[in-house]
Amino acid sequence: MKLGILVSGRGSNLQAIVDAIESGKLPCSISIVISDREKAYALERCKKHHIPHVVIKRKDFGNVQDFEEELIRSLRQAQVDLVVLAGFMRILSAHFIRAFPMKIINIHPSLTPAFVGKDAQKQALEYGVRITGCTVHLVTEELDSGPVIVQACVPVLPDDTEETLSERILAYEHRVLPQAIRWMAEGRVKVEGRKVQVIGAKYGTLPVN
Ligand code: GAR
Repeated sequence: MKLGILVSGRGSNLQAIVDAIESGKLPCSISIVISDREKAYALERCKKHHIPHVVIKRKDFGNVQDFEEELIRSLRQAQVDLVVLAGFMRILSAHFIRAFPMKIINIHPSLTPAFVGKDAQKQALEYGVRITGCTVHLVTEELDSGPVIVQACVPVLPDDTEETLSERILAYEHRVLPQAIRWMAEGRVKVEGRKVQVIGAKYGTLPVN
């Protein structure tokens, strides 16, 4: 399965995907990485691993539609089968989402539908929940809340700061994202309405098989 990965920053989730592919655990290839920020560290990772990459910035286009058209064009040209939002910090319109129906997944640092949008870890701390986590979901027109493929739960500890909690969640993001991509690549993800069934997986959360 050919992946198109959209990033905006550090790219540690991109790295987790690269590592899974390079160690033979993920039967996929990365056709293109697109960053909407020139300075994203994710691009350094692409150079190091010889992964095709391109920068497409919103401000180089007159409107969102034209920006998204360029994203769509690049992804189609790279013939991607699955679009992975791995720390892509922009909300995509219905137009983009309809270009790849049920072929876009996103990693979000909360147990959706709780704490969607920006600063999910900060939202969890401010709310005072004892457990949060991360979610890989199919992208639909609802913000950060499409059908859930896999979730992992992570405790919130009394002394947590946004940084310590984010780091604890991130370790799980790096496990569930390659896992969800593998399930997609193996054709095991069946969507019925808002529910996802993963054929042959016993659990929708970690530990998973
Ligand atoms: C990750 O924590 C990811 O879940 C989050 O951004 C971070 C990107 O880190 N995404 C969102 O908040 C999307 N709403 P990374 O660049 O190191 O992969």
